[in-house]
Amino acid sequence: MRSKIIAGNWKMNNGLKMTQDFVRSFEEWFALSEDVYALTVEEKLRIVIFPPFTSLSSATHLTEISPVNLGAQNIYWKEQGAFTGEVSAPMIKELGCSYCLVGHSERRSIFKESNEAISKKIATLLAYGITPVLCVGEVLVEREGGSAFNAVKKQLVESLEAVVTPHNLSYIVIAYEPVWAIGTGKTASAQDAQIMCKYIRDYLADAYGEESAGNTHILYGGSANAQNTADLISQEDIDGLLVGGASLKVASFSEILKECAGVVSKY
Ligand code: PGA
Repeated sequence: MRSKIIAGNWKMNNGLKMTQDFVRSFEEWFALSEDVYALTVEEKLRIVIFPPFTSLSSATHLTEISPVNLGAQNIYWKEQGAFTGEVSAPMIKELGCSYCLVGHSERRSIFKESNEAISKKIATLLAYGITPVLCVGEVLVEREGGSAFNAVKKQLVESLEAVVTPHNLSYIVIAYEPVWAIGTGKTASAQDAQIMCKYIRDYLADAYGEESAGNTHILYGGSANAQNTADLISQEDIDGLLVGGASLKVASFSEILKECAGVVSKY
């Protein structure tokens, strides 16, 4: 059975001071949360946080005091060189990152990131043993116009085709994030999210085989919070959540973890 993953994408929030506060209060909360701790030790639940680059070294402390995994929000695909303003895979690895977001919709729309660039980033991350979390999802006009499945499939094909094999597919995490649900308070219904996550898994099974697809984690993201966690992660093809706004404070993030633990401990 696939473990659940609860991941927090802090985006451009929580600078150094706020990260130190987060680490302190997460440590206090985690020490009392035996259920969540037990599930992480049994590897039924994985927790990942994606702080901004400048907060990564201070968040490293979380990986020392708890089984929280650290991820970066982006990399450039080259290892080093004259690329002003960029950060490489070996650099984030040195800071203890074992995950990295790739192709988040904000990077696609604001920074014009192409599927080709995303594909190169995935290849570099895999080469460094860092798990890429590939974000895909349709915009509102695509959902309303009936082309959501095609839009998601195009992102998958163009990002994965050149770099992924049946052997390495399950080292990648896919996050289905409908763009209209991100930061809007409008969550996809658990049923709609399940339908798309199943569509993604079926595509992966066709392209890479049932076994690799069955071992691959597919998350949902877009206005996830403690109220909708249980419903979303109880769906067969939803293996966890990529949480934005509700991951910034320990109070709201820990509620999501508790909800998730409630569902997982019933298995
Ligand atoms: P949100 O963000 O939970 O604030 O909607 C999710 C994301 O962008 O990953």
